[in-house]
Amino acid sequence: MKVTVVGAGAVGATCADNIARKELATELVLLDIKEGFAEGKAQDMMQTAALLGFDTRIVGSTNDYAKTAGSDVVVITSGIPRKPGMTREELIGTNAGIVKNVCQNILQHSPNAIIIIISNPMDTMTYLALTSTGLPKNRIIGMGGTLDSSRFKYQLSQHLGASPSDLNAVVIGGHGDTTMIPLISKATWNSAPVTDFLSKEQQDQIVNDTMVGGATLTKLIGTSAWYAPGAAGAALVEAIVRDEKKLFTCCVALDGEYGQKDICLGVPVIIGKNGWEKILDFKINEAEQAAFNKSAEAVRSMNNVLNTL
Ligand code: LAC
Repeated sequence: MKVTVVGAGAVGATCADNIARKELATELVLLDIKEGFAEGKAQDMMQTAALLGFDTRIVGSTNDYAKTAGSDVVVITSGIPRKPGMTREELIGTNAGIVKNVCQNILQHSPNAIIIIISNPMDTMTYLALTSTGLPKNRIIGMGGTLDSSRFKYQLSQHLGASPSDLNAVVIGGHGDTTMIPLISKATWNSAPVTDFLSKEQQDQIVNDTMVGGATLTKLIGTSAWYAPGAAGAALVEAIVRDEKKLFTCCVALDGEYGQKDICLGVPVIIGKNGWEKILDFKINEAEQAAFNKSAEAVRSMNNVLNTL
């Protein structure tokens, strides 16, 4: 397996680090436009191989897409991250051109690659990747819900005193502070509904803290987070290269599912060797469907901005 990570910033490098540690690829290419940046990070990571005991070969490159040729999976993290006080949506003007360009370059050398989008605003960048490349929809996966669901489990674990890995919880909808929908009604603690253990106030707090999870970190750190976003990207790579058929919420093209079409939005999907293989119908309730529709409206108006760029 060959995997490429485009963008050697904090998210891209962390994603690459996770991929290497788990040996998800024989060859891993890290690409960046900044001279020497990806080469340096790739070397630094390779110098952990003897300590960590992995055999993935990591190659860094300054924008030489020929090095990415024949990649099975490509993770795109390129673009600018948000600063404190910024929304993910404010990045669209800069990041749309970058993501479109990266997709074109990648496909020239890896026409069969499955593409994972991390760049923000993630829902719109996923839609742009789909519409600008014309790739089969199953090969374009937006990472957002995978990260947001993990943040949701973290928030739940704090209130329950539970291990995050004992929790089952998903966030659907958009990857925006006001567009994501943590489905607390469906969240379980090893099969028991979490709502049995939490007051209404706690539930509201958990949902709210999950929704602003990224913004909270941006405020604390001074720039966008990377450990969880990088790990979420790597978890999707793992599910693809190992054909795991794991259930994640990812941003994918909808064609009538959850009442929406001509949009990419977060829904539960099965991830395997073909990319996203199936959308699952979680039978969301009326209030959740109304929130999903509202989320779609917001993402659709963001997608429309692409026509004005
Ligand atoms: C975040 C960015 C990656 O949520 O969107 O941290």
